[in-house]
Parts: sequence; structure tokens; C-alpha cells
Amino acid sequence: MGFEYIKGRFCCDGVEIGEIADKVDTPFYLYSKEAIERNFKEYKEAFSEVSPLICYAAKVNSNIAILKLLSKLSSGCDVSSLGELFLAKNAGIPGKKIVFNGNGKTEDDIKMAIKEKVFLIIADSIDELFLIDNFAKEKINVGIRINPGIEPKTHPYVATGLEKSKFGITREILKNAISLIRKMKNINLICLSSHIGSQVTELSPFVESAKRLVNLAKEIGEIKYIDIGGGLGIPYNNENFPGISQFAKEITPIVKDFKLIIEPGRSIVGNSGCLVTKVLYLKETKAKKFIVVDAGMNDLIRPALYNSFHRILQSELREQGEIIADIVGPLCEDGDFLARERKMSAVSSSDLLCIMDAGAYSFSMSSNYNARRKCPEIMVIDKKPCVIRKRESFKDLIRNQVIPYGL
Ligand code: LLP
Repeated sequence: MGFEYIKGRFCCDGVEIGEIADKVDTPFYLYSKEAIERNFKEYKEAFSEVSPLICYAAKVNSNIAILKLLSKLSSGCDVSSLGELFLAKNAGIPGKKIVFNGNGKTEDDIKMAIKEKVFLIIADSIDELFLIDNFAKEKINVGIRINPGIEPKTHPYVATGLEKSKFGITREILKNAISLIRKMKNINLICLSSHIGSQVTELSPFVESAKRLVNLAKEIGEIKYIDIGGGLGIPYNNENFPGISQFAKEITPIVKDFKLIIEPGRSIVGNSGCLVTKVLYLKETKAKKFIVVDAGMNDLIRPALYNSFHRILQSELREQGEIIADIVGPLCEDGDFLARERKMSAVSSSDLLCIMDAGAYSFSMSSNYNARRKCPEIMVIDKKPCVIRKRESFKDLIRNQVIPYGL
């Protein structure tokens, strides 16, 4: 079901958002359980021919209820910090379905990944391989992240497989890495991995990267798994991008001689969530119209950081004419906007607005800037809005702070 208007009222899995906002103060994140399930199942079915290990990327939204839901659907997890590993284990995802990624793993990260018996540690450099070999007491499964040198046509901050990007081992260094691994006691190299970037909306970069991985894997010999990294980008503005089944159709024949690992995030939770915010003030200057809302860049930083577009929908459809306005938050800088020069139907103060497609990289990138308490998160489960994270309290803001004696 997900998000839709029913008789002019915007609903999440059939429940009116206005009703939820009567019980939970704005701003809050709202998730559709049905949409998350639908997206995950779509991956599972589309790739069923190669029965992949789907490792949901925890960084995208690591709320433990979401991890638990995905775990019940049989998802594994891609983690890139000890915090994510902790959350994944707490959500019931077994170590044997966890891959540990990251270009800057600390000694503690590696030791803990070994202790928790994660399925794969994906090494990002030769030095890391030495560390893993050193800390492991018996043979453990390792993957190597390859930098395929591919232009994924996405925002430069999230294009991670370019030659100039910090991730992975390049083809030239790979030969050296393999000969070193052959001398290492505890490294069982079973996987080649690559993550070319996020919000990639064309299939050709994925296809090219998968082909390069498979060719390298065939040259090396002992590789059993091909990990193609994150999933598809999603339409933020009703664009007509290829869907998961098309993605699977292109990738499956390339990887069919191997076992497939895939680490989607955005395409599973992105369109399953929105940020609900209330209009505080309307304001007009010589230059512009502003809609001031109670959510800001600390709640959703994507527009400020990547200039990203999120649709903004009203909780009630009314005939009010159109305006062009900046939708801005209450924080003390001009980077605090959720949309700029947005053409939308006119609003009044106290109206509720839903910032759409905010299930991915949204709460997980939120902060306490301006000492704002992080939002609650609500998930509609079987037509009931359930709190899956409470709003932070004022006490939470000082929980870890210390005033030294005498100050
Ligand atoms: N695997 C690895 C190793 C990753 O680094 C990522 C995302 C994923 C999987 C998941 O990719 P997805 O399926 O979500 O495209 N904060 C940015 C996106 C950063 C992406 C980081 N890596 C944003 O808000 O757009």
C-alpha cells in the first residue's frame, strides 16, 4: 500500500497522516511496513534464479525495528561500523549473513568482525589484509573490494567506484594482493566486491562493473562470490527509471556462474518513509516566498548537502491555488532548506507537509545541530502507527556531557 491519497487525505498503509500527527508532535519520520516488505520481496523474486544473499545496507536506515523486519524476511546485512554490527546482531541478523565493509576499519573493527564470525570481511587495502591475517586465529572468509574505475553518473559525493575515489583496490594492485594472500595463513579469499556509487539510475554502470568483477574472478580462480554492492537508485521526482526486475534481468546472466551478494539500501527503504512536518509561518520578502516549517537540516540534511530533491505533499488536498516558495526550517543558517523555488499548492500555517522518499539516508544522517532533539520514528504496522523510536528528551542532550569539577 505505502503512501497514497484516500478521499483527499494522505495516508500511510491506509492510516491518515493527520490522525497520526494528532498523537505524535511534528516533526516525525513515518514508515510504511508494507512498502519495505514489498521492496525487499521484489529483490528476492527478481534475483531468485541466482538465490542471492541480500545484505541490506544498515547505514541507510538502521532503526532496529526496520532491521528486525528485514531480518524476518531473511535479509542479511551490510555493516560498516561496530555500531551497525551491534544493531544488526541485536535485530537478530546472524553473523553468517553479515558482510563488513569500509575503507577505514580500525583494529577493533577487524577483531570484532572476526569474533562475531561475520560471513565476510571485505578488505579495502593490502594493509588491511595483513591486519586481518594477523588477527584471525583460523582461516576466515574475506572479500576484496575492487575499484572498477567506472563513472556511475550520480552525485560526485556518492560516486565511489571512480579511479580517483578512495575506495577499493585497483586492478594493477590486485595482482600483488593476490600473490600476497597466497602466502597468508588465515585468509580465505572467496569474494570480489565493488560498490560503484549510490542513486545510480542507469543499468549500464552496474552491468560494466559486474562484468569486470566476473572477469577478474575467473582470472583469479578461487572466487565463489560476486558482490555487486548497493542497489538501484530511486525516482525522487516521478522519473521513469529502470526497476528492480530489469536490473536483475541484466545482472543475472553475468554472474550466473557465481553466488551473488547484493547490498541494496535506498531502493528498499527510500520510498517507504517520509518526514512529516508542520507549517509554522508564511513569509514573503522582496525576493522570495518562504514556508517556514518545524523540520530542518538537522532532521533531513540531503537537500543542503547534495542539493537533492524530495517531493513535498500536503496531508490534505484542498483547492488553494499555487505558489513558488522555499521550504525552510528553523535553524540558524541559510543552508537550512528542504526545498528551493518549489512550485506547490499554497499552504496555511498549521498545515502538515510530507517530505517524501525520506526513508533512506534521512533519519540516519540526522543530527543534534542547534541542540535539537532527534525526531521520533513511527512505523505503520497492520494499520496501527507504532513508535519505533521516541523523540529524544532534553536529558538525552546532556547524557554524555560532563562539567568538570570546579568549572
Ligand atoms: N554497499 C556499500 C559498500 C555502500 O557504501 C552503500 C552506500 C551501499 C551498499 C548501499 O547503497 P544503496 O543501495 O543505498 O545505493 N548519503 C548518501 C548516500 C551514501 C551512500 C553510501 N554507501 C545520500 O543521501 O544519497
